[in-house]
Amino acid sequence: MPPFALVKASNDGYCPLYVPVVVVFGGTSGIGKAMTRRLSEQLDGRIHVIVVGRNKAAADALFASLPKPTGSQQELERCGYEFIHCDISLMKNVHQAARDIAQRCPKINYLILTAGKAFFGKREETEEGLDSQLVLRYYWKFAITNDLLPNLRAAKDVGQAAGVFVVLAHGIGPKINFQDLEMKKYHRYGVGPVWRGATYGDLMLAMYAEREPDIAFTHMYPGMVDTEANRPSAVPFWPVKFLIWLLRPLALLLFIKVDVSAENMVYGLLNGERGFYQRNTVADNVGPRNVSYSESDRQVFWEHSLSATRSVPR
Ligand SMILES: NC(=O)c1ccc[n+]([C@@H]2O[C@H](COP(=O)([O-])OP(=O)(O)OC[C@H]3O[C@@H](n4cnc5c(N)ncnc54)[C@H](OP(=O)(O)O)[C@@H]3O)[C@@H](O)[C@H]2O)c1
Repeated sequence: MPPFALVKASNDGYCPLYVPVVVVFGGTSGIGKAMTRRLSEQLDGRIHVIVVGRNKAAADALFASLPKPTGSQQELERCGYEFIHCDISLMKNVHQAARDIAQRCPKINYLILTAGKAFFGKREETEEGLDSQLVLRYYWKFAITNDLLPNLRAAKDVGQAAGVFVVLAHGIGPKINFQDLEMKKYHRYGVGPVWRGATYGDLMLAMYAEREPDIAFTHMYPGMVDTEANRPSAVPFWPVKFLIWLLRPLALLLFIKVDVSAENMVYGLLNGERGFYQRNTVADNVGPRNVSYSESDRQVFWEHSLSATRSVPR
């Protein structure tokens, strides 16, 4: 990994000949928002960004603060910032968002997936019968990647970059239990589904990379980053709020600043042309880790992911 100054210099050199199309699930807050800003400012607004989330006001505030592009009318028509509303906790919403995105963008260069929230508790099922924690950690990522593969391929077909970039982990989760992929036997309070979702993401990206050898699939671990997720306002319970407030000076000292994280993330995004990458907080490729399972287990995992997310192979 080059020193931070070189990471920044590398990102400063990003200047594609075409207007890149970037879809960001999670662009309304934290790391996704900071990555969106870094890319847009780098290109002086010569970019087409679609931010997907629930908080339209946050997206509008972000867009208002980003540079407006200049250039020929033809090029200006390709640039812009758009918001699509989607609650990723239901697969039907994710598929609907995919249809909206595909309609607006026949070609996608980068699909950035930072949306999610870690919460710890008893197993709860969504109305679609899936573990609600696994949904936010994993299932929606499988569904949206599958749905938008044709649009990523379209970018590759015209000689442009194409990548799926997931912010969460890099192969350090527990082994997968292929006998209980839905985690129906896991009823205790705990972090199980949160960790397992991260491991599922590793295997999913490794398998997509095998199936789509021209596209880059990256899983990057952010470390502890100072974002809205770690602020007192992010938790509903007063005792926890108070604790976070008390620990805030320590967090400011120890956590990675979100702009620094975004710089490393953007480096990880732009520096993988094709294949599977697992990157640490400073974008070193540390993989492949925790993705070697038997062919039959991998097949079971794939079939489960398709059926649980109600996805049609693309
Ligand atoms: N920050 C850290 O220290 C850290 C450490 C390890 C892992 N992570 C993981 O890295 C990812 C990004 O973290 P962050 O700190 O940037 O988080 P953040 O600031 O809390 O942002 C989370 C994003 O996820 C979106 N989101 C959450 N639930 C959603 C839902 N049901 N439907 C649609 N969008 C939803 C939010 O959008 P809307 O509000 O618009 O819906 C928001 O844009 C998360 O998965 C997080 O768990 C973070």
